Amino acid sequence: MILPIAAIVLSYLLGSISFSVLLAKAIRGIDIRQHGSGNAGATNTLRILGKGPAICVLLLDVIKGIAAVWIGLWLSGGSPWIAAFSGIAAIAGHNWPLYFNFRGGKGIATAIGVMVSLAFLPALCAGVIAILSIVLTRYVSLGSLIFVALTPVFILILPGYSMSIFWGSLIICLFAFWRHRTNIVKLAKGQENKLGSKNPGGG
Ligand code: G3P
Repeated sequence: MILPIAAIVLSYLLGSISFSVLLAKAIRGIDIRQHGSGNAGATNTLRILGKGPAICVLLLDVIKGIAAVWIGLWLSGGSPWIAAFSGIAAIAGHNWPLYFNFRGGKGIATAIGVMVSLAFLPALCAGVIAILSIVLTRYVSLGSLIFVALTPVFILILPGYSMSIFWGSLIICLFAFWRHRTNIVKLAKGQENKLGSKNPGGG
């Protein structure tokens, strides 16, 4: 029992490393949470710091999710439940980081790392649709929500995935919708920030 708990705690601590906060501090000496949408994530890094830093943040946040699933599998001897909960713990760390006053991001890049590791094909199918929606609408938040909502659906449709992975993906989906609640209101009002726009909230 100790090792699975250690996996979840370690994953939370890993997820709590907020790369957008660290990079913005290092490059510009600013707190990214005081700028743009106020979110500590890759999309806001793109807005405030540009493409290079945003790609770094995206990759590092995805790697956090992949590493958490590995930690879970390794310390539990291959349990999909612990792998899923380690992934969820990393997303929780990203969203509510221990080292940064519990004010973090929305967890999508870390969720991509977790879902790709737990259920590659469902995450790929959901990811293709999500990317298409971003290309068509230029709303990253909409694409993010489509990704987390469709991944559990594809896990159910496609053969070979255990219920632990399905429930894990559903919890990840609920986390993401909760963290995107202001984006959802803005989307409904047609006021959501579009990719490439420098005016968060201005559409
Ligand atoms: O993953 C975050 C993205 O969906 C929205 O980010 O900064 O536009 O709120 P932001």
